[in-house]
Amino acid sequence: MDYENIYIHIPFCKRKCAYCGFYSEADPSPARIEAFLDKLEGKLAVLGQSTPVNTLFLGGGTPSLLSPQQLQRLQTMVEKYLPLAAGAEVSIECNPENFGPERLEVIRPFANRISIGVQAFSDSFLTALGRASSRKQIEQALHLAKEFNFNNLSIDLIYGIPGQTRKSWLANLELAVKSDIKHISCYSLTVEEGSELDNRIENFTPVENDETAEMWLQTGDFLSKKGFSRYEVSNYSCPGAECRHNVNIWHGQTYLGLGPAASSFDGANRWTEPASLNDWLADKEPERDIIEPEYRLIEIFIIGLRTVEGWTRDYWEKIPLQQTMNVEWQTMVQKALKVKKLYPDLLEVTPGSIHLTQQGLLFWNTIAEAWLE
Ligand SMILES: C[S@@+](CC[C@H](N)C(=O)[O-])C[C@H]1O[C@@H](n2cnc3c(N)ncnc32)[C@H](O)[C@@H]1O
Ligand code: SF4
Repeated sequence: MDYENIYIHIPFCKRKCAYCGFYSEADPSPARIEAFLDKLEGKLAVLGQSTPVNTLFLGGGTPSLLSPQQLQRLQTMVEKYLPLAAGAEVSIECNPENFGPERLEVIRPFANRISIGVQAFSDSFLTALGRASSRKQIEQALHLAKEFNFNNLSIDLIYGIPGQTRKSWLANLELAVKSDIKHISCYSLTVEEGSELDNRIENFTPVENDETAEMWLQTGDFLSKKGFSRYEVSNYSCPGAECRHNVNIWHGQTYLGLGPAASSFDGANRWTEPASLNDWLADKEPERDIIEPEYRLIEIFIIGLRTVEGWTRDYWEKIPLQQTMNVEWQTMVQKALKVKKLYPDLLEVTPGSIHLTQQGLLFWNTIAEAWLE
């Protein structure tokens, strides 16, 4: 079948960050990367995607860890096997520690959106997070992206780092907006099971939940004064610079994930590739998440509520699964009105839209549970 959105997971990093629970191998050999690219090419060759893809996201892991030659190979195989729609969004995640002109020469004609993993602008927090990059490399990367005329630039930041105050978080945001970017993802630090941070948590005093909620509110307030709007719980953009790939996924559109640990959704079922490069290379079966279509539709709806826009009739009617299930928009509005009775401050319901209030975005879990009851 054809997919609207494609995600390719590049499962390599220079080294493993202390907090990260995403699947990747640290410090791979060139042969290991080639083995991954060989397999990926085999999978792309049999894909048979015939309709143009609207968004392609090269994520990780660290796609920019690939050498310029490997990036060129990746680009050539993608262009050979994946028809891209005119104006397709092509995003690539890059890390400051491997972001030089040789790689940008390759990336520029291909990707039209770069997301740089900054995480923090101070060396002490970068060290606490176990990042491989320094503040200097971050500044150089942001400067270089501009030199190469990459205007659709995004950065990732993490807040709620032990020892971080609201004041020091604000200083990060100030540096971010001075970098002339169009999009920022701000994630609250979570301690992932099995990560280094999880093992050394006893030496860490985590920032209290109330404080991270304050930082989240502070983020929205500050960025809105600088021309950025929150459009999802953790994502902020200048007008028109929202990540289309993610917006499509949050609204129930189809996506194919290639690479270890990558997830896919065909409109009804989800599946996740094995979170091990060896298993993926050996064609081990993905883990399938098969549930009744009515539950899947509810799941899609609840995920969409994490966006500030939430659901409009138009978004609802464009969900491929909705088109087969034919659950009337009016049914959703009725249900939303019932949930709103329980939590009047968290939900806004009009005949044409259902979305969470700012407070509701903070308490998304509460609404998700209420919807399932
Ligand atoms: C999987 S990473 C890939 C991007 C890239 N490798 C990097 O390091 O920036 C995507 C983003 O997830 C966020 N992230 C990963 N683990 C996290 C955690 N435990 N808590 C908060 N954010 C996290 C980071 O902001 C990171 O930029
Ligand atoms: S945060 Fe990025 S660089 Fe760090 S381990 Fe995770 S994927 Fe790799």
